[in-house]
Amino acid sequence: MTTKGASPAARPPDPLVVEGLTKTYPGGVPAVRGISFQVSEGEVFGLLGPNGAGKTTTLGILTTLVRPSGGRAIVDGYDVATSPLEVRRAIGVVFQDSVLDADFTGAQNLWLHARLWRVPGAAQRVASMLEAVGLTERAGDGVRTYSGGMKRRLEIARALLGRPRILVLDEPTLGLDPIVRNELWQMIRALRREQQVTVLVSTHYLEEAEGVCDRVAIIDKGEIIALDTPAGLVGALGARILELGIDGDPSGVLAALAGPVPGLSEAMQVGPTISVPSDLSATELTEVANRLRLAERGAKTTMVRPATLNDVFLHLTSPARPATATAAGAAA
Ligand SMILES: Nc1ncnc2c1ncn2[C@@H]1O[C@H](COP(=O)(O)OP(=O)(O)O)[C@@H](O)[C@H]1O
Ligand SMILES: [Mg+2]
Repeated sequence: MTTKGASPAARPPDPLVVEGLTKTYPGGVPAVRGISFQVSEGEVFGLLGPNGAGKTTTLGILTTLVRPSGGRAIVDGYDVATSPLEVRRAIGVVFQDSVLDADFTGAQNLWLHARLWRVPGAAQRVASMLEAVGLTERAGDGVRTYSGGMKRRLEIARALLGRPRILVLDEPTLGLDPIVRNELWQMIRALRREQQVTVLVSTHYLEEAEGVCDRVAIIDKGEIIALDTPAGLVGALGARILELGIDGDPSGVLAALAGPVPGLSEAMQVGPTISVPSDLSATELTEVANRLRLAERGAKTTMVRPATLNDVFLHLTSPARPATATAAGAAA
């Protein structure tokens, strides 16, 4: 890996390269514990994980708002530690805290930003970005009157005004209702194509990222525990999940599944639900459930559904113990 200026670059550097990045806040526990990943030109890359995993901290470092404790982060060929201004010029950022002025209209908000950042051809750029996020009709209305989804769209338009190479979005769908969330994801994918921008997006809605991201890194407790295409991660787990609803003692069902049973992966228990990943067909799975007499052993409901990134996360973070031991621990 080279940084800009080190050599006459034959081809542009990757938009993002992160190597062994760590962050420990003063007096705190490590928030990021040595993560590494790279994002290629034009990718939509997802940083997925539960609350507290270290997503915002990582994006904070990449956008120069947070100082790393160790490791390196290279954005558009520039090191965040030594070239923060160049890094900021290369990225457009949408963070949780809104930067919109509610007293102004949508268009005025974009104007203000375009002038501040001396965006060339500002008038045309503002108009075309309003169009790109579907706000042309509402451009003259006060931001105060916008819905949550419209505000998020305006923030994305603002972030893209300066034609950044990389768009960074921290939980863009947080707090929006499911339909609006889905619309926003579709818009992010469309913008990637239309604006030719590389996208780094964080979310704790693992399933939503599945159809949107080209590749995802799953982060938990400051560490990347998996990195691949969503299809690759789900495929490695198993195409389907046999899901059993337990009412009472799960030990009978877990014992039957602990076999091991040919075609079934290790059972995972979350609360009253036991999930078993498998590549067997739905029909075969129903047959297996019958043969193991799971209903008699305490499974109140039996369902087969497609596996998701959520299941991948559960599988990766479930204690690496036999299911029966897990059950004993959970029941204790
Ligand atoms: N400014 C801060 N000072 C101290 N601890 C922080 C600060 N910001 C985040 N943390 C801690 O770092 C960990 C990771 O947080 P964060 O990066 O916000 O995760 P996420 O965005 O995935 O929810 C959490 O344990 C959080 O409490
Ligand atoms: Mg966060």
